[in-house]
Amino acid sequence: MPKLHAQAARPDSVTAKPFGKTADGRTIQLYTLTNASGMQVALATFGGTVIRLLTPDRAGHPGDVALGFSTIEPYSTQSPYFGALIGRYANRIGKGRFTIDGKTCQLAKNNGPNSLHGGVMGFDKQLWTAEVLSQNPPAVRFSRLSPDGEEKFPGNLKVAATYTLTNRDELRIQYIAQTDKPTIVNLTNHTYFNLSGAGSGSILGHQVRIHASRFTPIGSTLIPTGEIKDVAGTPFDLRKWTTIGDKIRTVGGSPVGFDHNYVLNRYPVSRPALAAEVWDPASGRLLKVYTDQPGIQFYTGNFLDGTIKGKAGKVYRQHDAFCLETQHFPDSPNHPNFPSTVLRPGETFRSTTVYGFSVR
Ligand code: GLA
Repeated sequence: MPKLHAQAARPDSVTAKPFGKTADGRTIQLYTLTNASGMQVALATFGGTVIRLLTPDRAGHPGDVALGFSTIEPYSTQSPYFGALIGRYANRIGKGRFTIDGKTCQLAKNNGPNSLHGGVMGFDKQLWTAEVLSQNPPAVRFSRLSPDGEEKFPGNLKVAATYTLTNRDELRIQYIAQTDKPTIVNLTNHTYFNLSGAGSGSILGHQVRIHASRFTPIGSTLIPTGEIKDVAGTPFDLRKWTTIGDKIRTVGGSPVGFDHNYVLNRYPVSRPALAAEVWDPASGRLLKVYTDQPGIQFYTGNFLDGTIKGKAGKVYRQHDAFCLETQHFPDSPNHPNFPSTVLRPGETFRSTTVYGFSVR
């Protein structure tokens, strides 16, 4: 990758500075990680959020490919989960209800009749404790204790996400969680990417390829029907490079667009396997997503409606970004045929997702 910093003295690979305060007055820190080639990611302790992600285009010019805000305040009031860590249960749970060992838990219905992304005060709206693990490669660990009953989930959950910016231009996220009561866990990161740069317009010209022969069809409130369906012969077939705009009008949805969980071909795996790729012909940027999770939510920013003004005052409109949320399937606790998301005392949940950047 071309060097972003030609100067002799390289800046510190991890720096931290205050980045505003939470509503109750606690200081939020912004950690900036810079790797040997100059790629950079900035992470806030509020939500463990990716605030900025600088990668070069094919001419070597750095661009910020992550949607978001330049200050922290809007992240708690108007962010549709931009860049955040999502938990305790990423994606939807039908009617916000699930049963574990015969005990029924009723979560907040914060998305129509369903629960979405961990509830009203999910992990994305919590302050995490940060610890610098390494300067080379730069790595920061975000951890917190999600107390028993938080958002009505059972069990004290010790959870951490370590972000590492490798010298191969990969943003690696390693999740770990342990509980003291049976609970459910589904963790992801909700970065909205635009490989031409955040706020540069739509991603309909980007090309995508998802290594999944099956997906989980959904009903009107985006809860899986329970069927695991072949993509062959459907508009959801993204096994070959596909220009997003060529398919987006054919997948339905209200608002229209992709918002679907793909069943990854390579699962289970002992190391993260290639799950999805997106290439932007305009900038040349290529994103490759690797994971050890069974599914990936491909979401095309359908709910962005031009009401959010992001970094540099740019307005984000429908289809101005895409997300690739590595995960367990939505509503898994209510579908015994889906891989289980139950975590029990004595067990450790571990998972790794890698977002690799290059140009082509
Ligand atoms: C996920 C969901 C979408 C939407 C976004 C946040 O990607 O699948 O339906 O709720 O989060 O706006």
